[in-house]
Amino acid sequence: MTQQEAQKRIAQLSKEINRHNHLYYQESRIEISDYEFDQLLEELIRLETEFPELLREDSPSQRVGGTITKEFQTVAHEYKMLSLGNTYTIEELQAFDERVEKGLGTRDYEYFCELKFDGVAISLVYENGTLARAVTRGDGTKGDDVTANVKTIRNIPLSIEGEAVPDKFEVRGEIFLPRKEFDKINAEREKNGEALLANPRNAASGTVKMQDSSVVAKRRLNCYFYQLLGEDLSVATHSEAIHLIEKWGFNVSPTYSQAKTLQEVLKYIEDWREKRHELPLDTDGVVLKINDYQQREELGFTAKNPRWAIAYKYKAESAETELLSITYQVGRTGAITPVANLSPVSLAGTTVKRASLHNANEIERLGIHEGDIVSVEKGGEIIPKITGVNLLKRKADAKPVQYISTCPECGTELERKEGEAKHFCPNAASCPPQVLGRIEHFVSKRAMDIDSMGTERIRALIDQGFIRSYADIYDLETKEKDLLGLEMSQDQYEKEGSGLLYISLEKALFALTESISFKQIQEYLTEAAELPLFDTLRGFQEQIRKWKKKVSSNVGMVDYLIHALKEHADLPKLEDFVPVAVVLDIFLGRRSDFGSILEASKKEGTVHGILLKLGVELPDELRERIKKLKANTFQEGVITNMLEGIKASKEQSFEKVLFALGIRNIGENTAQLLARHFGSIEKLQAASSEQLLDINGVGETLVQSIQDFFAQEENLEHIERLKARGLHFEIQEDENTPKSQALAGKRILASGKLENFKRDEIKDFVQAHGGQYISAVSKNLDFIIEGEGMGPSKKEKAEKLGVPMISEAEFLKMVEG
Ligand code: IVH
Repeated sequence: MTQQEAQKRIAQLSKEINRHNHLYYQESRIEISDYEFDQLLEELIRLETEFPELLREDSPSQRVGGTITKEFQTVAHEYKMLSLGNTYTIEELQAFDERVEKGLGTRDYEYFCELKFDGVAISLVYENGTLARAVTRGDGTKGDDVTANVKTIRNIPLSIEGEAVPDKFEVRGEIFLPRKEFDKINAEREKNGEALLANPRNAASGTVKMQDSSVVAKRRLNCYFYQLLGEDLSVATHSEAIHLIEKWGFNVSPTYSQAKTLQEVLKYIEDWREKRHELPLDTDGVVLKINDYQQREELGFTAKNPRWAIAYKYKAESAETELLSITYQVGRTGAITPVANLSPVSLAGTTVKRASLHNANEIERLGIHEGDIVSVEKGGEIIPKITGVNLLKRKADAKPVQYISTCPECGTELERKEGEAKHFCPNAASCPPQVLGRIEHFVSKRAMDIDSMGTERIRALIDQGFIRSYADIYDLETKEKDLLGLEMSQDQYEKEGSGLLYISLEKALFALTESISFKQIQEYLTEAAELPLFDTLRGFQEQIRKWKKKVSSNVGMVDYLIHALKEHADLPKLEDFVPVAVVLDIFLGRRSDFGSILEASKKEGTVHGILLKLGVELPDELRERIKKLKANTFQEGVITNMLEGIKASKEQSFEKVLFALGIRNIGENTAQLLARHFGSIEKLQAASSEQLLDINGVGETLVQSIQDFFAQEENLEHIERLKARGLHFEIQEDENTPKSQALAGKRILASGKLENFKRDEIKDFVQAHGGQYISAVSKNLDFIIEGEGMGPSKKEKAEKLGVPMISEAEFLKMVEG
């Protein structure tokens, strides 16, 4: 391809990619698949690599990220980033309006109403039509330079074209993570057993401050702009400014509106009170701003806020509902969190059934009694909270909630350290969720990388006694036969505070009835989400009649369930779940007594386990019915796949194994450092405090963690077993091991054609000698290796930023001496 052809194709590709970005962000439409989109982008990057001089700063390829920022530069804001005064009532708004009228000495002014977006404030500075800097709010006077990360947001213009674009201007807005993206990330994190992100705002602010911009690029952040600043802007009102930045290609939320009177402002507030829940992001109020810039100037500022704008915050919505029961979740660190199970109630656009109670203090503070009518509130967090109790509705004989004293998962007596709010289960060695946490870490991508062992599978293996520690993973190879048919205890089960096992209502109804699909049952239950349990069941019987599916036997079975639940009304209630014992009792009838079933269902975690414990012989027909209660089971393909993954993991390097062991405070980098320094686990174990402290990057806390780890007999035993199974406990001489540290701490980029390396080879070479390869010219670079035909624009930029350029020969000399 000639340069001219390349130029033409690059222009075509850029235009097409920009068009798809626009469709996606501005019009929520897609015309091509992610794969096809990536193909276009790849072709563009390929051409730009081949013809580096054709790479433009505003090329859409610049949005894929790749820059690593260890520390963000602090930058002063040219115009201070102020905050807004808050109001919560109409009276306060009236008072604001009166102050405005008094300040201006006239009623002749107009408000511009916008929603208050719940994200991260950002300031973008454009110079000569291109994005020069993106800076966070920081303390209002100075913030962090997050340009590399912000550039990955695909609908933020990298350059502006058009008439009369000022030489320099600033736009401000709110970066946010659309709720849909947030849910997607959390679903993925849940699948991987990672901690969930609390809310979209925290997720957005965490993402904006990530060190690796290619990770930022994958998280579809978005931004709404609401302010234009600069000298000689040729606009006299905010509405003109907003229309202008819209025209320049900035994303403006279409929810704004102009209001001539406070009455109209109040109408805007009411119009959006409910409707805002349908927007793609969280909003927590309305911002009203004086439209005319001249009038803004007359009003001026207080020390902290403008006098020409104010925020009205919607009150967190609340509702009253009945507390059905409290369950206790045991976290991966052993921390106990009480969760309130509530009678379903509709709140801020969703049905709420659960609320977090945080800890025992919170229950005490609220003075919660069993069966209380409580108020629930939904703020910015995804999990609603209980804010109070309606004492007038409390039953005379209601007892205060008794906090549990033993772990609901393993029965160990709970501990509470002085000064800590949460109770802990001290049984780190064998409490299932704690074991799960350690094993999840062990198999994770960056450790042993056994991706065929997802959370569900690990949990099932723990629950059913196959693994108690990571060392047990490598014994599974000998247990292939026993794994077949094992239940994967998914979300269908729940354990109540006393340890009693519950099963989801949908599974119970699925097993009790015939000829009705699981999906039909789920759909019915979603529709009946707000009905109390017995109404839900009666409604289901109605539905069976309508469906005309084995009416009499199916309705009869649901009758059994209703009667059995009423008979055992003394058992704790859990929304959407029923005690497994009650359901099994219907099936087993005289084959077993209820007492034994109940007993077994307190000890076991699955239907499979309970049946084994009861040891009853079942006729085939009944076995089939009960099978419908079980979760998915391990099948042959799954087992083979898992065992292959386990086998392959034995090849992981010593540094990965060391990281996988989960020694406190040993992250990936520290594991690498220690592995390379000591070369084997024996040498690490034998190291004295002094020897450890001598290593750059090792402190007292780390020394303590290492010594604590090796002081525990069971850890040594695990290591011995893993060694016996062939895992690497000493460093191997392979390509992953750096060849030297000649480039340690150096950030390097190569540009143009090199004699001794192909594109990817130079990257590996730099890393193998301890350096960091950076893919774009920036002032963070230590030097650039100048190859043949390095693009003039790149060269110019490097010169401007003062980044040294060296020849390939000089570079090789530096490494090889
Ligand atoms: S205008 C001087 N408009 O609220 C006021 N701010 O408390 C400049 N915010 O830091 C801000 N939505 O992060 C404005 N439509 C909106 C907004 C908005 C959210 C945030 C912004 C600002 C904070 C002020």
